[in-house]
Amino acid sequence: MKVSTSDTSVLQIDVDGIIIGSYENDLGEAAASKITDALSPILDLGDDYSGKFKENLLLYNAAGVIAKRVMLVGLGKKEKVDHEKVRVAVALGAKALRKRGVKKIAVEAVGGDAQSTAEGVLLGLYRFDELKTQDLDKLKTIDEVVYCGNDADWNKGVNIAVGENHARRLAELPSNYATPTYVATHSKEILEPFGVKVLIHDEKWAEEKKMGSFLSVTEGADEPAKFTEMQYYGGTEGDQPLVLVGKGITFDTGGTSIKPSAGMGLMRGDMGGAAAVIGAMYAIASLKIPINVIALTPLAENVPGAHATNPADVVTASNGKTIQVENTDAEGRLILADALVYAETFNPHTVIDLATLTGSMMIALGDAFIGAFTRSDDLWKELDEAGNQTYERFWRMPLDKKYRKLLDTPLADMNNVGGRAGGASTAAMFLGEFIEMERWAHIDIAGVGWTTAVGDYTPKGMTGMPVRALAKLAEKYIK
Ligand code: BES
Ligand code: MN
Ligand code: ZN
Repeated sequence: MKVSTSDTSVLQIDVDGIIIGSYENDLGEAAASKITDALSPILDLGDDYSGKFKENLLLYNAAGVIAKRVMLVGLGKKEKVDHEKVRVAVALGAKALRKRGVKKIAVEAVGGDAQSTAEGVLLGLYRFDELKTQDLDKLKTIDEVVYCGNDADWNKGVNIAVGENHARRLAELPSNYATPTYVATHSKEILEPFGVKVLIHDEKWAEEKKMGSFLSVTEGADEPAKFTEMQYYGGTEGDQPLVLVGKGITFDTGGTSIKPSAGMGLMRGDMGGAAAVIGAMYAIASLKIPINVIALTPLAENVPGAHATNPADVVTASNGKTIQVENTDAEGRLILADALVYAETFNPHTVIDLATLTGSMMIALGDAFIGAFTRSDDLWKELDEAGNQTYERFWRMPLDKKYRKLLDTPLADMNNVGGRAGGASTAAMFLGEFIEMERWAHIDIAGVGWTTAVGDYTPKGMTGMPVRALAKLAEKYIK
């Protein structure tokens, strides 16, 4: 889909459809009153449309408008409009236009909020259809979106949404397409044009770094593991970086501790953490946010095989600690362990890891909140704020030594599982063994990585979360 801007007003532009916001019981305010003539007949009718949040009305041949269709989208009461409502209203309007087979649409800053308008259009219209070859004509597609205006906010929303859509796509791609090699080379392809240096490390590099924990996960796989290191120096030379770490299991069968078959296909999305980190890097670099960021994605397939790790095998991580791999399905923490040790070598001010880490997290919070574990009250506040500002909201979960006890084992320094109770917190405590700094947060996105129902601006499937929150957080670190 082509995205462009125009100096022509939304009323004057010749397209198949335009989207105009309106407030509840205040239709006169629609598009800053510019389409009052077209609206007066509706107002006269009374109850046909009142501009309630999520309400839509399609007008044809509206007076004073050149476009063939006007999609009025309701924002609710003016004093209660926020970014999320704009995102939702615009997405619903764009999708409703698409249903009509419309090819070219135009928008203005709905609710005066250009960034959320951009996010609503691009996130709302996102669809994963690249692997379909049949009935493509039935899948109606909008080819072009024009923004009538010219401001940085629109551009910001576009870049963030494109970043989040990259994350959705990477997570959605099945494992025979999105192999560790593909994810690594694709990261390079989309990030290098924005000046990001992308190093793709191989297994030999990981061996030299003594990443025995990371490597133990790929033992059963034919597909070579990769470890991508993305460096973005948008800030001042010598400034401490923010380091993002994303779990990149391109498929999680569970390994020798194999998972049940039902629903296992969703485990193609077990690199949602890596996908979000890559998408956030795209947003940050394309927006030229003036900070330094390093993104690390350990990438591997977790499958059984003759060479696969057996339960109770003991492996040694790059900080020298020994781990009993009691359950090969608790593999995310194994690849993150070495990545966190490596993360700390960059002298970062903050480290954030993102992972579809535990089923336990999904049970605890569902898809409404993202679990956040951190020792730092300051970092928690920053996350909380970024989450609320972008509607990718976090909920603080406990990191406490009580949970660490559950990982004790006679065989090694720690076990990789601690039983069902408190599973998200034992996993977080496990990770804490591999990073010492206070300003570290572990984000468990298992509950929000994918949805089983179509959302207002989220298709059924991989959500790309929380790219928006990460981009917002990055902004907070501008000096
Ligand atoms: N990738 C899974 C976690 C997961 C499960 C995410 C369901 C989303 C939905 C992870 O690798 C895993 O298998 N975790 C195990 C850990 C257990 C063996 C301690 C889990 O949560 O069951
Ligand atoms: Mn697993
Ligand atoms: Zn996993």
